[in-house]
Amino acid sequence: MDGDVADLSALSQLAKQKDAWLMVDDAHGMAALGHTGAGICEAQAVTQHDVQILMGTLGKGFGTAGAFVAGSTELIDYLTNFARPYIYTTAMPASIAAATLASLNIIKTEPQRRTHLNDLIAHFRKEAALLGFNLMTSHTAIQPLLVGDAEQALAISNELKQQGIMVTAIRPPTVPQGTSRLRITLSAAHSVDHVDRLLSALNGLADIYPSIKKLDNTHGVSS
Ligand SMILES: Cc1ncc(COP(=O)(O)O)c(C=O)c1O
Repeated sequence: MDGDVADLSALSQLAKQKDAWLMVDDAHGMAALGHTGAGICEAQAVTQHDVQILMGTLGKGFGTAGAFVAGSTELIDYLTNFARPYIYTTAMPASIAAATLASLNIIKTEPQRRTHLNDLIAHFRKEAALLGFNLMTSHTAIQPLLVGDAEQALAISNELKQQGIMVTAIRPPTVPQGTSRLRITLSAAHSVDHVDRLLSALNGLADIYPSIKKLDNTHGVSS
């Protein structure tokens, strides 16, 4: 919800101290992070020695549906034999598996998409900061703008929808009270023009909803 990235080395060290395993849910990192798009583990150069259970979804960066768990042979054998939802659920359709394989190929062989996405993120952050928006510290594709009030976040999201821009309003209980936000999600399919159109729409709405801009915002991010 913040677009932030966990420090896996620190978490892995802590897990080792406590004789625990570390499980990473990299739903938002797969395809977007790492040199070949393998996600947060690749980006932070951690291995199975540090992260014993890695799960990822296929419904986000892969653009298909389903999910996977990666880990040691023992872990996977265990899940194959004892994970009831896995055993008693219909397998992924072959068409989805084929589409996922095609996505995997694109993710691995077309790093220019990640370069483009990172350029869009940098462009959005630079321009949004100049316009005085309430940016969070995220350097990933999820760029939340803090609004504070839940009703206002929803109203801005609806106004953007009227203008053909889809930005969801994230409200409690998903985030703490007083930290409702617009969750802007950039993708490699966007262009600089798209980002500029979003910025201009947000700037227009700031007259009616000044809380999306820094100077006027009285809500801090609560813990
Ligand atoms: C962190 C995280 N994990 C898992 C999921 C579940 O994704 P899916 O239902 O596409 O497998 C989501 C979906 O929003 C998510 O944000």
